[in-house]
Amino acid sequence: MPINIGNLSLKSRVYVPPMAGVTDLVFRHIVRRVDKHCMLATEMVSSRALMHRPETRLMDLASDERPIGIQIFGHEPDVMAQAAQMAEAKGADFIDINMGCPVPKITKGKDGCALMREPELAREIVVAVKEAIQIPLTVKFRLGWDDQNRNAVQFGQMLEAAGVCAVTVHGRTRQQLYSGQADWGAIAGVKRNLSIPVFGNGDVFEAEDAMRLLEETGCDGVAVARGTLGNPWLIAQIDEYLERGCLPEAPTEVERLALAYGHALGLIRYKGLRVGTNESRRHLTHYTKGIPGSAPFRARLTQVTKVEEIKEILGELALKVAGQAGLSSFLAEVENIDFAEGKEPAGWESPITEDLKAPVNV
Ligand SMILES: Cc1cc2nc3c(=O)[nH]c(=O)nc-3n(C[C@H](O)[C@H](O)[C@H](O)COP(=O)(O)O)c2cc1C
Repeated sequence: MPINIGNLSLKSRVYVPPMAGVTDLVFRHIVRRVDKHCMLATEMVSSRALMHRPETRLMDLASDERPIGIQIFGHEPDVMAQAAQMAEAKGADFIDINMGCPVPKITKGKDGCALMREPELAREIVVAVKEAIQIPLTVKFRLGWDDQNRNAVQFGQMLEAAGVCAVTVHGRTRQQLYSGQADWGAIAGVKRNLSIPVFGNGDVFEAEDAMRLLEETGCDGVAVARGTLGNPWLIAQIDEYLERGCLPEAPTEVERLALAYGHALGLIRYKGLRVGTNESRRHLTHYTKGIPGSAPFRARLTQVTKVEEIKEILGELALKVAGQAGLSSFLAEVENIDFAEGKEPAGWESPITEDLKAPVNV
């Protein structure tokens, strides 16, 4: 059964939810290269900051990303409504409101998960945003503020009554941050008590985990965040496993290294050399995790400052894990990219669509 979020009909039960500092245009494009149908979302965007900096690139969307939502956070209903309108104008398929972020910097200003302690304010925000936009509205939240205040069921019911079209529930409280295990039983409780689609979220790192989460919670869909770091193929694996019960072949180590390079290069082109290399370090670390003998290479990757260095280190690792043939196929992939000229030869699918390419010389 397809999931319908308002008038949006989804072909996949898998959602890559917002991750600040991760789910930017480059990351999402990489996910799209391996999975055509999953639902995507931007990083969270501050509604208040948008009022001062409406041109933020956090809301950049490319044409191949749909279905995609823009996530906003804040606690002022009128500001949230304006932010949602701006996000709608950017071409989002839906607006998601962050009511789950546990980070003190966010919650101390009544934003993120703090709204679970202020359900009336949360309701006002939903009503104001709903009125301001035509596209569907969704909310992402946790089980509650802490163990003494696990109000996810009532909170979800309030959201549904206020007109929210779907919710994503992370099976932890704010107090837990990321500790312990996500409580899928509690997510099941939310699902049982709502009629709108519910995406269960927390601790899915393998395709089998996704299947178990759906079976144990009865959720309509599954949201997979950390499991995608350095492993966008997980999304396609989950899709295939849920659809056909079999797992597609895992990528080879050389394929992982080549995609890692493409991701880093995409970030550098999009964000400039300094920010791009900085941000690529953590992705490179994730892509190389689990490759035998990769620890010393990973240590070097955390220090990179140049594209050439990234290519060299990944190439050495390709040689170590797959010999001369591995190095050659790695180089064949990456040498396809003439980054000095900023041109992509035929066959190379650029991580960035032409219209959004930053004017950055690498
Ligand atoms: C680096 C990072 C950034 C995140 N940023 C956001 C965010 O901007 N908005 C949000 O709703 N959740 C955010 N989350 C939470 C995830 O969307 C997800 O709920 C959480 O990681 C649990 O799912 P997982 O076990 O599949 O990782 C973030 C998580 C991580 C690890």
